[in-house]
Amino acid sequence: MKALFVCDEKEEWNLLRNLFHAHLKNLELICVMRGNDALDTLSYEGPFGAIIIECSLKDTNPSDLAEMIFDQTGPRPIIFVGTPTMIKDRVKEEFYNEYDMVSIYNKPYQANQFIGVVAEAISWAKKEEYENSIVELDPENFVPLKLRNFYLYDSVPFDVYVELTKTKFIKAISADKKYTQSAIQDFQKRNIRYLYLEKNEHLSFLENSILKISKSLDLKTLEDKKRIQTCIAAVLVIHQYIRDVGISDTIRGLIKKVIEQFPLIVQSYKDLDKILFNFPSEHNDLAEQAVLKGIICEYISQHLGWKSDMTRSKFGLAALIHDAFLEREEWSTITYRDHPDLDYLSAEQVDNFIEHPKRAAEIARQFTHYPETDFIIEEHHELPDGNGFPQGLLANKITKISATFILANNFVIQLMLSGISRSSVINITKGFKPIYSIGNFKEPYQVIYNGVKQI
Ligand SMILES: [Fe+2]
Repeated sequence: MKALFVCDEKEEWNLLRNLFHAHLKNLELICVMRGNDALDTLSYEGPFGAIIIECSLKDTNPSDLAEMIFDQTGPRPIIFVGTPTMIKDRVKEEFYNEYDMVSIYNKPYQANQFIGVVAEAISWAKKEEYENSIVELDPENFVPLKLRNFYLYDSVPFDVYVELTKTKFIKAISADKKYTQSAIQDFQKRNIRYLYLEKNEHLSFLENSILKISKSLDLKTLEDKKRIQTCIAAVLVIHQYIRDVGISDTIRGLIKKVIEQFPLIVQSYKDLDKILFNFPSEHNDLAEQAVLKGIICEYISQHLGWKSDMTRSKFGLAALIHDAFLEREEWSTITYRDHPDLDYLSAEQVDNFIEHPKRAAEIARQFTHYPETDFIIEEHHELPDGNGFPQGLLANKITKISATFILANNFVIQLMLSGISRSSVINITKGFKPIYSIGNFKEPYQVIYNGVKQI
C-alpha cells in the first residue's frame, strides 16, 4: 500500500521517509510539492492508504485540498499535520468533525505517536479495501456494460464489478459512492473495456441513461459538439439495449430523438468539410462511426433533394443500428469479402461477422415507421464491384438509397482508420472515385466530392 505526503518543504520529506523506512517498511511513501500534484498522483498512482497534508502548504489551503481529494476519490484517510496554531488556522473544524477517517497530528513529530496515527489510517483503508476485495459471483447473474457508459454519471445506485476470471470479480464502483472521470480513464488505461452489474440493475442503468440522454437532447441551447457527443453516448446505450433487452417504446423514443438531431447538425454546420473537421472523434468506435454516418447520410440526402422525414428516418435508423451486433469493435474495418483480417478469425467469429447485417436488419423490422431500412442494413457491406458481402451484389442491383448508405459507411470507416484531416479527406475522396462513379453510387459520390473539393 502507498501513502501520499503533500508538503512544499523537502526537508520534511526526508524526515517522513526516514520514519516510514524505520517503522512502516511495507508502506511506500510518495511525496509531492503541490495540491495539483497530489490530485494527479491520486488519479494515476492510486490507491493510497493515507494522505498526509502539511498544513503550512503555500499553494493550496489544506481543507480545500482535502475536499478536492474527497470529490475525486471519495473519502480516504487524511491526516493534517502542522503546529497547533497552523492546524487551528487552516483546517476547517466542521470538515474534521464530519469524517471519522480524517485526523490531525500536532507537530513536532514523535515517532511512535505519528506511526500510530498513520497505522490507524491504513487499517481504515485496508478495511475499505477488504470490502472491495475479490468476490466470487455467479456470472449468469451479471451483465457486462461498456466502460464508456459510465462517463455519463458520477455515481450509480448499485455495485459495479470488474471481471478477473469467469467467476471472480472485484468491486470497481461502490453503490452511491462518487467516482471520478479519471477513475474511469484508469480502467481504460488498464485495458478494461467492460464493467459488470447485476441483471436487474443493468436494465435500470440503461433506462436511467436513456432518460438522462433524452433530457440533454431536449435542450434547445445545446451547442453542436455537445449535441454530437450526446448522440454518441446515445448510440452506446442503444446498442447495449438492443443486444441485451431488445426493442421497447423507450428505446424507440430515444432512436427517434437521435435521428432528429442529424438535420439540426447539418443545418448548423452546412458544409461537409465543417461537419468533418468539427466532429469530436476520440475513440473511433462504433458509436462515433454511427453518428457520423447518420450525419453524412443526412447531408447527402439534402443535396440529392430527398427531404422527406421518411428518408431521414430510414438513414437514421440504419446508421444507428447497422453494426449493433458486431461482436468486436475492430471488425468494423473489414469492408470486403476477402479482407485479410478475416483469416485471423475463428469460423464462429467469421459467422458472427457475416451475420451482423442480417441480425441488425431483423431488429429494423420491429420498427413500423421505418420501411425498407432492413434492406439498407442488410446491404451495408455490399460494394459496387461485387466484392462486398453477404450477397456480392453488383452496382446495377443496388438502389440509390442503399448506395448512399454503403458510400457513407465506407467513407466513415476510412476516415476513422486514417483520422479526420485535410489530407485524409482528399485522399479518401480521390481513392473512391474509380470505385463509386458507377450506377446509383455516382450521384451520392458526387455530393461528397463537391462537399470537399474546395478544402
Ligand atoms: Fe458493418
